[in-house]
Amino acid sequence: MICLGIESTAHTFGVGIMKDEEVLANIRDMYLPKIGGIHPREASEHHTLVAKEVIEKALNEAKLKLKDIDLIAFSAGPGLPPCLRVGAVVARYLGLKLNVPIIPVNHCIAHIEIGKLKTGATDPVTLYASGGNTQVLAFTEGRYRVFGETQDQGIGNMLDHFGRDAGLKHPGGPKIEKLAKDGKWVELPYVVKGMDMSFSGILTSASKKLKENNLEDLCYSIQETCFAMLTEVTERALAHTDKNEVLLTGGVAANKRLQEMLNIMCIERGAKFYAVPNDLSGDNGAMIAWTGILNKNKIFFDTKIDRFWRTDDVEI
Ligand code: ATP
Ligand code: FE2
Repeated sequence: MICLGIESTAHTFGVGIMKDEEVLANIRDMYLPKIGGIHPREASEHHTLVAKEVIEKALNEAKLKLKDIDLIAFSAGPGLPPCLRVGAVVARYLGLKLNVPIIPVNHCIAHIEIGKLKTGATDPVTLYASGGNTQVLAFTEGRYRVFGETQDQGIGNMLDHFGRDAGLKHPGGPKIEKLAKDGKWVELPYVVKGMDMSFSGILTSASKKLKENNLEDLCYSIQETCFAMLTEVTERALAHTDKNEVLLTGGVAANKRLQEMLNIMCIERGAKFYAVPNDLSGDNGAMIAWTGILNKNKIFFDTKIDRFWRTDDVEI
């Protein structure tokens, strides 16, 4: 079974081709705003402009022709509507042209499924930490249930926003990770409410402190504070569900310090820690193609998008 997956929820237009469990191609083109954060219309224009070329590059890399594709999958949400629409239109065009099924995929579940495939985790508590999303999930009774999540923005968007306030170029997450290596502790709010988290107060506080503290110290402290919050909630979900694996996935999974903190927690609890490989942590088409293959028996020809599609709305 060969599936071509299209990712276009936000900044990245990606096309991945999976042959069963094997990644044959994973090409992406990322929209980088000249100033500020992502502008949805500009991002969607970027996706429209690069779509044809990214598909062609993916087919070349996989050494395949369009007619070899058995299935088209696309990210149907959650995401920015103008960007989602580009992926849906491209999926519909390819599906109709090739007369193959079109499978709408939930973007968050795709981050989990590619993590499970690539690490061998079977039934983990998943910390899905990306730009737009921050959720602690575990599979129970037919769904990935949300045990804890952010009450406002995703951790990645918060890091990016702090980065912009500090004059760093988008995306700030990886630059903050580098600067944090030379930092010292500065007190910031620590906001865990039950199993949920909030990041906006931390952002306001850290950005205000830019006047009197050096950037390395704030980068270090924002990471230590927020990653401790993520680790605390993940640990509690692990205790509650009695599972013995933790999977870290999503764009922020590339962060080595976050991986280290979760790993220490897992060792202390006798659980196994897994992190999705870096080349599949951020938004990509391979994860959409793989989730398409997992759902190949749910035949749809539906290209509706859902900007707020929740992880726990999907029956697995
Ligand atoms: P989603 O729709 O799943 O929320 P997304 O659109 O935010 O995804 P991803 O590619 O999954 O996209 O994640 C991008 C985020 O990951 C950005 O906020 C970026 O700063 C963050 N990120 C990437 N690498 C690192 C890193 N090393 N440390 C911290 N954050 C990182
Ligand atoms: Fe994502």
